[in-house]
Amino acid sequence: MASSSLFLLQTVLTRRRDSNSHSQTIKSFFFLMPTTLALATSLLILLYISFTSNLFFIHPHRLHLTHPPIGPSIILENPPEISTLAPPEPVVNSRNGGVLGETDGQEKFKNRLASPGSYVNDEKKLFHDRDAFLDNYKEMNRSLKIYVYPHGRDDPFANVLLPVDFEPEGNYASESYFKKVLTKSHFITKDPSEANLFFLPFSIARLRHDPRVGIDGIQDFIRDYIFNISHQYSYWNRTGGADHFYVACHSIGRSAMDKAVEVKLNAIQVVCSSSYYLSSYVAHKDASLPQIWPRQGDPTNLARERTKLAFFAGSMNSPVREKLLQVWRNDAEISVHFGHLKTSYAEELLASKFCLHVKGFEVNTARIGDALYYGCVPLIIANHYDLPFQDILNWQSFSVVVATLDIPLLKKILKGISIEDYLVLQRNVLKAREHFQWHLSPVDHDAFYMVMYELWLRRSSLRFSA
Ligand SMILES: *[C@@H]1O[C@H](CO)[C@@H](O)[C@H](O)[C@H]1NC(C)=O
Ligand SMILES: *[C@@H]1O[C@H](CO)[C@@H](O)[C@H](O)[C@H]1NC(C)=O
Ligand SMILES: *[C@@H]1O[C@H](CO)[C@@H](O)[C@H](O)[C@H]1NC(C)=O
Repeated sequence: MASSSLFLLQTVLTRRRDSNSHSQTIKSFFFLMPTTLALATSLLILLYISFTSNLFFIHPHRLHLTHPPIGPSIILENPPEISTLAPPEPVVNSRNGGVLGETDGQEKFKNRLASPGSYVNDEKKLFHDRDAFLDNYKEMNRSLKIYVYPHGRDDPFANVLLPVDFEPEGNYASESYFKKVLTKSHFITKDPSEANLFFLPFSIARLRHDPRVGIDGIQDFIRDYIFNISHQYSYWNRTGGADHFYVACHSIGRSAMDKAVEVKLNAIQVVCSSSYYLSSYVAHKDASLPQIWPRQGDPTNLARERTKLAFFAGSMNSPVREKLLQVWRNDAEISVHFGHLKTSYAEELLASKFCLHVKGFEVNTARIGDALYYGCVPLIIANHYDLPFQDILNWQSFSVVVATLDIPLLKKILKGISIEDYLVLQRNVLKAREHFQWHLSPVDHDAFYMVMYELWLRRSSLRFSA
């Protein structure tokens, strides 16, 4: 792609020289100048992307993705290596070989060609491709190795860099949970030459509360941290950070990297505020971290009958929520609460068929995790949200995603879902729950392992020896 632009640019430049040498009117110069500038800019952008993104490399691991990573369409529209190696359709069907007969597969293939919209395997299945997931998962579990930059207890920023020594809780617990579980896991290696990925262990949530740093100092801290590790160790420079990652749940993380642009552009950002709409988040490179309010054990009455249609509680901090209130404030079936809830939150989630997750200040809140925990089907209103584990789990099978514009149609949409379809959604919610739970000692396929799997899919195929 870059070379063809280069060719075009050269053509334009040559033509410009020609026209000058023939001392043509100054007019043609003014005609060519903007074109040249535009081409030069495109070329620079392309060069930049090809240096900073790993899209242009062949990623054998990525071919296992059943759901193509979503990124800038100009680049993904026609990735030659991927389309020749793995035509998307047969991969999906061959995995289902045991279930679908060969002709069935071909039939389905034809149907899908006829209606390209129905690309997903089977709307009712929790996984896009469970067998592929389980196979890759085993390999990941066996071979993924992470190197964590070491810091002692005497480091002045030990509170920010080391795992917390208590059980993480609250709204942003995912960040602390991940680090705490990772550092004790079998994925850790002390030998950097063995590592697939390098973990930048700073905690955005802890920085935010550290009086030496605070919200305003986070960007400087990150810049200094990257400066320090890139001078002390050789690993950062050799990939420009592309085999490094950090994990953050608070939405402050979206501007935290503004003074460390390489982190933003190259490193894998595992963040809760994973919105396609944020310039700091790159969906194919970064990964969505589920925001989960940790709870122990299971509620006893998950399978009880749910008498209420839909429920939401939260504060009024976004235009989307304002719209929701405006339309549904006095509705008998869709109950929306802003401000202090007089009934029990858990009780409401247990009694409702659908539980609303509505974009607030950011796309992410703990409400999807809350809904799943209490066996309630999430109804998601958060345009541009890159949902957690979206490339593994088929969100259509256990949630309803609605565009902001459709808020006035909510009741119609929900009532249009048959009892049978609702039961399928709810059964899948009960299956999906395990992927949205943290455990201090991780359990296969829980939130920790799922995040590790996302990292495994995003690891670089290039390995460096030290
Ligand atoms: C993953 O590795 C852990 C630790 O070695 C082990 O307990 C677990 O059973 C493994 N899971 C799978 C599915 O291989
Ligand atoms: C970077 O290193 C300097 C010198 O060792 C140290 O004073 C500073 O705290 C470090 N900063 C960060 C953010 O790691
Ligand atoms: C990494 O690159 C920076 C900037 O070019 C340089 O100052 C630094 O010395 C390099 N680090 C190592 C370990 O060579």
